[in-house]
Amino acid sequence: MTLLAIETSCDETSAAVVRDGCILSNTVSSQVALHAEYGGVVPELAAREHLKNLLPVVRRVLGDAKVTPDQLDAVAATQGPGLATALLVGLKAAQAVAFALRKPFIGINHHEAHLFSPWIGVRGGGALAANFSDFQPNVSLIVSGGHTLLVLVQTELKHRVLGSTIDDAAGECFDKTGKMMGLAYPAGPVIDRLAEQGNPKAFDFPRPLLHDASDDFSFSGLKTSVRYFLRDNPALLDDPQQIRDLCASVQTAIVEVLVAKTIRAARRNGVRCVTASGGVTCNRALRQELALACKKNGFALHLAEKSLCTDNAAMIGILAGRKLAQNIPATGLDEDIKPGWELA
Ligand code: KG4
Ligand code: ZN
Repeated sequence: MTLLAIETSCDETSAAVVRDGCILSNTVSSQVALHAEYGGVVPELAAREHLKNLLPVVRRVLGDAKVTPDQLDAVAATQGPGLATALLVGLKAAQAVAFALRKPFIGINHHEAHLFSPWIGVRGGGALAANFSDFQPNVSLIVSGGHTLLVLVQTELKHRVLGSTIDDAAGECFDKTGKMMGLAYPAGPVIDRLAEQGNPKAFDFPRPLLHDASDDFSFSGLKTSVRYFLRDNPALLDDPQQIRDLCASVQTAIVEVLVAKTIRAARRNGVRCVTASGGVTCNRALRQELALACKKNGFALHLAEKSLCTDNAAMIGILAGRKLAQNIPATGLDEDIKPGWELA
């Protein structure tokens, strides 16, 4: 079973060719530079850029995989959640290809696909781990610029959202506090790097909802507290070491909340495995602290490899392949995007 998968939910134009649970090719064309000057993703610009990039990206993955269109058995694309205009480009293109080839089309939930990325071994040839179902049930943290979710994965296609952010996503908190510090967009990776040489205890910021009974997150209060702190201490930004200390302190507050709530959810739900994916999972402190906490609590930990933490079509294709293998009905070619599609 050979599939072409397309992902355009936000600012990455990505396509992949997946065969029998293994990635043959995966390309991501990032728009980060385009959106940098606005300090965030501009939906209309993203859509226009997807239109420009999609065909070259699709041609490239087909070429890399040495697959011709007539060898495709199905086409998949992200149907939601995401930016409406961005989703529309990928979904309609994929449906058109499926129509022309007379092959089934599968519309994929972006978050459900993220649940698969920790199980794809890019270094091991791009195959889905054969034993991944041995680690179910598990608790999965999906943490990016647009989302912060804790999900209980019961079986591969059965899951329940335990909690999500009630305001800003963790990645947004990294990006917006970094912007206040004058760092380039997206600030998450910059903060990660500067924090390496900073003192995480230099400044004390709130850990929102850390002790709240729910599995929900909130990061806007932390962002506001950094804003007031900088308003009252503007000279701090003239000192590179103080900026590094600030990065380390903000990062520690975010990571502490993410790790503590993930571990607590895993304990409460009696699982033995934790997984994580999404752009913020590239963060070294988060990876390290999750590893330490899982070890201490006796949980297996599976983190998505860094190249698959951020948005990519490989995870869309892997999930579509699993759905087809389980005879889940194809998605109609007239179906629309679902920008607010919640994970069931
Ligand atoms: O998954 P992603 O590529 O796109 C979506 O938001 O859907 O995630 C991008 C987010 C940005 O907020 C970026 O700052 C953050 O992931 N990010 C990081 C790191 N690398 C990416 N945040 C903290 N540390 C990093 N190393
Ligand atoms: Zn994502």
